[in-house]
Amino acid sequence: MTRIDRRYFILGGAAAAGSLVLSSSATAGPLNPFRLGVASGDPAPTSVVLWTRLAVRPLNADGHGGMPRKPIAVQWQVATTARFSRIVASGTVNARWADAHSVHVIARGLQPGAVYYYRFRAFGQISPVGRTRTAPAAGTFGPDLRIAVASCANYENGYYTAYRRIAEENPGLVLFLGDYIYEESGSPGRVRSHAGGETVTLADYRRRYAQYRTDPDLRAAHAAAPWLVVPDDHEVENNYAKLVRGNSRPALTTAQWRARRAAAYRAYYENMPLRSASFYRRVGWGRLATFHMLDTRQFRDDQPCGDYWKVCAAADAPNRTITGAAQEKWLLDGLARHYGTWDVLGQQVFFARYADETGAANMDAWDGYRGARDRLQRGWLQRGVRNPLVLTGDVHAALANDLKLDYRDPGSATIGTELICTSVSSNGDGTALREVPWPGVNPHIRHYSERRGYTMVTIGQDRIRADFRVLPRVSRPGAPVSTNASFVVEAGRPGLHRV
Ligand SMILES: [Fe+2]
Repeated sequence: MTRIDRRYFILGGAAAAGSLVLSSSATAGPLNPFRLGVASGDPAPTSVVLWTRLAVRPLNADGHGGMPRKPIAVQWQVATTARFSRIVASGTVNARWADAHSVHVIARGLQPGAVYYYRFRAFGQISPVGRTRTAPAAGTFGPDLRIAVASCANYENGYYTAYRRIAEENPGLVLFLGDYIYEESGSPGRVRSHAGGETVTLADYRRRYAQYRTDPDLRAAHAAAPWLVVPDDHEVENNYAKLVRGNSRPALTTAQWRARRAAAYRAYYENMPLRSASFYRRVGWGRLATFHMLDTRQFRDDQPCGDYWKVCAAADAPNRTITGAAQEKWLLDGLARHYGTWDVLGQQVFFARYADETGAANMDAWDGYRGARDRLQRGWLQRGVRNPLVLTGDVHAALANDLKLDYRDPGSATIGTELICTSVSSNGDGTALREVPWPGVNPHIRHYSERRGYTMVTIGQDRIRADFRVLPRVSRPGAPVSTNASFVVEAGRPGLHRV
């Protein structure tokens, strides 16, 4: 036992002295309660959220992962080295049955712009080590920030090679923009299967998250960097809007549907490294960037014209909202502050216009909420926002879009940039298709790819660079990653430049 290990043992105190036998089944010694891994998120200059959730049998149908019906003491430590030779913060927190034995620790008193390592201990067992970091000090830029941007990870549709490659890139941050889980079960052509049927109850959602975290590639991506996460529709139900249900199969009364929605969000918070269950929030990164993380699902008007791709005059109604009035005001107020060089909007659904030759567009995206898009774009112009950057998921394809004041006028000014990440696994292997659909009506779309993968975005003081990272397949594990397009945007000069 090294001196450090002993120190940790002493820190463990009473909980380390007697390891609990978790169940009556025949097991020699304590079971590993850290099968769901560790995570961190929402870094600030002197604090970061640390997360874990105890489960010894993650697929148990009650969503409690085989844990006893009582609180479990969990120790945590933060250190400056992966060997924990210098511990700078530590404590004990109770993992409660009512929270499915998830814990959210806010580690405080940290140094700005620093890398840290963290781990937990329960039942005399030590968790895997996670790596995290704090934001730069207010008023400083810090080094360039490399972000991995990802979305849409249907477990049934493919292996999580994208998550493994993200972990290997050692990004400064991971942005996950929705569809972290999928609620349905039994996708056609699936390469692996969800446990249980479509998620409806709290137990169902808890088990679904637990199953996703049994994937070692996903656990590696969480352990590699802090994440900023926002949910979209599949964390609840496909294409739902506010209190209007989407198109999933189970027949539910209104009361049952509302209970389902509440259960879904509760399980989302329990399983994500969030500071609170309020998902729209700002995360400052010194003078380099401000992340405005949006929730375009919980507060939106219903999709117009019955949803899906439509030619729809009602989508132009100026009073429609995709954020709700309170979030829109919060966003515009935040954009007026000009604190970070880059104002990054981390959000769920296609922001730029994206139409076919008939003028039909996706009513679930901002095209179904054109008044809201126009208010936001004009809002950032009126406030003199120099560098708006919209980061988006949802469509299972990668795109790079010049944002336009008037999308129907190709000569209209470029007023910002949208980078859309492809899916981690949703829709399976993808295709080699690279042509922008309907280029005549979408001239502002500069890149299109149907490969699986993620986007690496490097944010610097003077420019950002986007590298679209792609995988040849997700139907088998272990595919290599490569870059199939790269762009830069210069600060103060909106517009994508291919490199
Ligand atoms: Fe998706």
